[in-house]
Amino acid sequence: MTGLKIAEYSVPVPVIQGGMGVGISLSGLAGSVAACGGVGIISTAQIGYREPDYDTNPLEANLRAVGKEIRKARRIAPHGVIGVNIMVATREYEAYVEAAVEAGADLVISGAGLPMTLPAAAAAGEEKKKAAGSRADYGSENGPKRAALAPIVSSRKAAEVICRYWKKKYRAVPDLLVVEGPLAGGHLGFSAEQLEDIPALHYEEEIRSILEFAAEYSKAAGKKIPVAVAGGIYDRADMDRALALGADAVQMATRFVTTWECDAADAYKQAYIRAKREDIVLTKSPVGMPGRAIRNAFLERAAKERIPHGRCHGCITSCRPGETPYCITEALIAAVRGDVENGLLFAGENAWKARKMEHVAEIMEELSRK
Ligand SMILES: Cc1cc2nc3c(=O)[nH]c(=O)nc-3n(C[C@H](O)[C@H](O)[C@H](O)COP(=O)(O)O)c2cc1C
Repeated sequence: MTGLKIAEYSVPVPVIQGGMGVGISLSGLAGSVAACGGVGIISTAQIGYREPDYDTNPLEANLRAVGKEIRKARRIAPHGVIGVNIMVATREYEAYVEAAVEAGADLVISGAGLPMTLPAAAAAGEEKKKAAGSRADYGSENGPKRAALAPIVSSRKAAEVICRYWKKKYRAVPDLLVVEGPLAGGHLGFSAEQLEDIPALHYEEEIRSILEFAAEYSKAAGKKIPVAVAGGIYDRADMDRALALGADAVQMATRFVTTWECDAADAYKQAYIRAKREDIVLTKSPVGMPGRAIRNAFLERAAKERIPHGRCHGCITSCRPGETPYCITEALIAAVRGDVENGLLFAGENAWKARKMEHVAEIMEELSRK
């Protein structure tokens, strides 16, 4: 196994911990993964939910928390690679990208939509970072570096569209492609019909095709675009299969939930450990995309009736607060706080495999062993 190079960043273990919102992957998890030689990813989805002014001024609270969490993760892993996951469907998406880059994120990963404006928003963040010299106090040895930019795609077509647009509009090339397959947790880039028969998707062929495209495009652009494969990668054997296909790295999320370092409440982790295979289900999220989660009283209730919600925190562009079947932000915050019957517990297809709590260092040891 070789390390991973993403733009100017060297990653000893080719493992990216997937961003998990709301609040599941913050500085605790991301810092620990980065300290063990992988890439730690903080999810910016409603990241400020614990800030005192979150209810009155959610955007400001969230943008402030982006910087706070990056700095906290950096203290855990002063020399590690730490990035953020920012969903394109986030309201004020560009403001989050700017805030993360300004605060010194090494990498921005963006999916849940096509990140067409990512290079421009990141460039604005770089300008602010330069002006403030904001990376200087992070103990970095080599001084500020440009944040690497990585779209998440589920098809070759999406990769092509993004690459073509970035080239034409910004003369930019992605620094990494994350290919997310149908076994992932959270929102999925597939239709409900496609997810009805996952084997029929022959997703490995799609991965091969994306790898082929990335290789051709890298050659034409004169810059290697590494590819990370995500979705259902749970152990070393899964990882080795992905690397054997030709991937440069894997992105894993579900496996890291049941760690002592994960930022969710203990009850959330215990729900993973209790879950059986049949408890991992597909659901239609109010965001309009299918999602994968653990079956609980909340999902049963949501299937039957509209769940009233409180104040809107302006999370997702596609949500109509007056019509939404439930508030996804409220449901995800309830879950991360440990209310596992009244919350939405996103989980990957393999969440039932969790048997016990682990330390991030143990998982990273399994994934990096020669
Ligand atoms: C609890 C949970 C929350 C997630 N939240 C996000 C998110 O906010 N944004 C995103 O792009 N992906 C999100 N994902 C997807 C992961 O980043 C990752 O790509 C995917 O789950 C990989 O599959 P695995 O969980 O089987 O390893 C989430 C996944 C889980 C399990």
